[in-house]
Order: sequence, then structure tokens, then C-alpha cells
Amino acid sequence: MADNTNLTTSQRNILKFDPKDHEIALSTEDLHVFYGKTEGISEGDLQFERYKISALIGPSGSGKSTYLRSLNRMNDRIATVKGKIMYRGLDINSNDIDVYEMRRHIGMVFQRPNPFAKSIYENIAFALRQRGMNKKQDLDEIVERSLRQAAMWDQVKDDLNKSALALSGGQQQRLCIARAIAIKPDILLLDEPASALDPVSTSQIEDTLLELKQNYTIIIVTHNMQQASRISDYTAFFNLGKVLEYAETGDIFTNPKVDLTNDYISGNFG
Ligand SMILES: Nc1ncnc2c1ncn2[C@@H]1O[C@H](COP(=O)(O)OP(=O)(O)O)[C@@H](O)[C@H]1O
Ligand SMILES: [Mg+2]
Repeated sequence: MADNTNLTTSQRNILKFDPKDHEIALSTEDLHVFYGKTEGISEGDLQFERYKISALIGPSGSGKSTYLRSLNRMNDRIATVKGKIMYRGLDINSNDIDVYEMRRHIGMVFQRPNPFAKSIYENIAFALRQRGMNKKQDLDEIVERSLRQAAMWDQVKDDLNKSALALSGGQQQRLCIARAIAIKPDILLLDEPASALDPVSTSQIEDTLLELKQNYTIIIVTHNMQQASRISDYTAFFNLGKVLEYAETGDIFTNPKVDLTNDYISGNFG
């Protein structure tokens, strides 16, 4: 087996989009992430096309979460992130960026559903109020719209005042998606959002993401390769803190160019 980890980026199969045909929503340039002296990401430059789903796959510890969390500055307090993260012509990794405001555009959903210990309604309205929206009619509208987009309105519309903690795990995760999209971000980052869920809830989350793709650029970490192949347009394969291959999802799963990608998707390691 060839050891591709020592290939330079230009020798790997890293998709670059032609700006004439593809609108890039977000990209990283020369990104390095350090936990103290340990490098969590050494080479992980990707471009993400607007209104597509891009999946980040790879073995445990390969840097998927580190990379994803860097994209909306979730690593600021735990790691040193060097390099550029380009969003609408701005380097959002620079010091003068208002991180709170940036996260209105780039939202995140975590692995474990983490609703607030509040009502279903308040889980969504809370963030809106914090952003200065107080009119009940506006809040009602956005709560409904967000829950509809997260495909759970019909199930909870009569229970909006019930505690979010009483929902099933799958519903809690969809509520977290609803909460994330309530403020209409541009980009949605999801870190293994279905890994704690049963197959039915997982499939519902996948359907929801496919719907959301019409309005959002989605970047999802998953260790579930069937999930990546079912929902994503592009797939990046991470290993040891580097992106080894990035291509259209069909190509990654049927015709990988890098031996290690092939080994991973065939279940030979990871
Ligand atoms: N908070 C942290 N402190 C120190 N090292 C970390 C931390 N988080 C992740 N790492 C290290 O960074 C590397 C990448 O981890 P991670 O991004 O969590 O991988 P993945 O999401 O692919 O499983 C691993 O070697 C991991 O041990
Ligand atoms: Mg992870």
C-alpha cells in the first residue's frame, strides 16, 4: 500500500472549483490548527460550493471536527488557528472580526442534541430576542418557519410550551437545527449530527438536510459513509490532519484516486 500521507497537496486529488461555474461560499487557505505543540490540522484546504452539501469523512482523530470547528471560530479558546478562512471576501479568521456577528452567518449544530432547558418555543425565540427581536408576531412567524424547515412543525405545533427536554433525541436534534436556522445563517456546519440517533431519526435528519440545501450551504462531518454517499455532493477524506482527497461524492466512493481513501471506504481501517 502506498503511503499517500507524504504526498504534497498538488499530488493529491483535491478538487478546485472554477469560479466561472461555481460559487464558493467558504474556503480555507493554508489552515493550520495547533493544540499546544500538537498539530490537529496540518493541511486541510478546501473550497465549499454554495447550496451544496459537502461531507468530511475520515478515521477518528483525523481532524474533521478540528477543521469544522475552525470554520466559525469555535476553536478560538482551545487551539491556535493559523491561515485564512475566506467568507464573502473577508478573512473571518482575522482578529478584527466580530465573531458573534460572523456566527449569525455561519451556524453550527453539534453531535449531541443540546437544546436549552426551556420550552420548544423559547429554544428558538431566545436567540432572536438576544438579537433584539421582541415583537411576538415576528417571533411566532420565525418559530413556525424554522420548525417547518426542520420538518417538525406538524409534530410539535400544539406543544410549543412543553419542555424541549421531553422531546425524543431525534426531535431534539431537529429542534437544534431549527434553532440554528432561525437566524437565517448562510452556512450550516454539522458535526456528526445523527451519530447519537436511531436509524429512523437519522433518515429524517438526512431528508431535512436535503431540503435545507436549497437555501443553505451545508458542511457535515460524518463517520457514516452511507450517510455521506446518500446526502453529499462533495466529499473530503481526512487522515492524520490532512485532506488527502476531495472530489464529487460519487467519485470518492466509486473511483477514489488515493489508496488510503480506497482502504478507508472499503472498511480496511478507521
Ligand atoms: N481539545 C483538544 N486538545 C488537544 N488535542 C485535541 C483536542 N481536540 C482534538 N485534539 C486532537 O486533534 C486531532 C484531531 O482530532 P479531531 O478533530 O477531534 O478528529 P475527528 O473529529 O476526525 O475525530 C486528534 O489527534 C485529537 O487528539
Ligand atoms: Mg470529531
